[in-house]
Amino acid sequence: MDLVEARNLPGHVGIIMDGNGRWAQVRGQPRAVGHREGAAAVRRTVRAARRLGLRALTLYAFSEQNWARPEEEVDALMHLLKDFLLNEREEILDNGIRLNAVGNLGRLPALVRAVLDPLRSESQQNDCMTLTLALSYGGREEIAQAARELAKAVAAGRIRPDDVTADAMHAQMPSLSVGDPDLVIRTGGERRISNFLLYGLAYAELHFADVLWPDFCEKDLFAAIASYQGRERRFGLVGGSGASITRIAI
Ligand code: FPP
Repeated sequence: MDLVEARNLPGHVGIIMDGNGRWAQVRGQPRAVGHREGAAAVRRTVRAARRLGLRALTLYAFSEQNWARPEEEVDALMHLLKDFLLNEREEILDNGIRLNAVGNLGRLPALVRAVLDPLRSESQQNDCMTLTLALSYGGREEIAQAARELAKAVAAGRIRPDDVTADAMHAQMPSLSVGDPDLVIRTGGERRISNFLLYGLAYAELHFADVLWPDFCEKDLFAAIASYQGRERRFGLVGGSGASITRIAI
């Protein structure tokens, strides 16, 4: 924690939790065991994020594309999700965490919706940290959904075609209601985005960690944040050192 500056925390951190399957495979275990350990890492990470004072944490728990995995694995993930929500209910409520979910939630089985929906309502007024679970989520799908909403509004005459701006699109995206992600962490060693928060990623800082998700712990979160804090964010402008280089060149 000494590594992290309390003043300069990223407002919104997104995590692509990758590596559960490989974690299990190297131990000769079924993939579901990796997901179970992954759920324990989720618990640790939410606690660490809350302790640190992060305002928003978005976890990529299940993509729209993950439905195509073997039925047994999808089933195991849905049961883990339900168990997580049941077991963490009190901690979420007691710690001022607002639970949110984004994605094609209509595809989730009733056993998940039965615990997810009440916890979302019960925690709605909490304001210490927003924990968003991206479930049956796809970045491209979310962009298409936003475009559809605006197209309908144009067709109904509520807005003009010129009103379809980048900001209007942004406002239609539930995953960005807590703001764009400032930092996106991906575990598991791959260096890709896999359809996560695509629209909001425009100026996000990316941090790739080799640790497999079930082994992710507080120190890995702090290391990612320390790395973020060492970067200069320019948002398309000229930064401190860039400005002086430009002056010398003129
Ligand atoms: C990617 O690892 C991970 C997932 C598809 C699921 C993430 C789920 C959890 C962390 C546990 C349940 C979630 C909650 C919120 C309780 P992978 O299976 O693709 O791993 P691999 O790349 O090693 O095969």
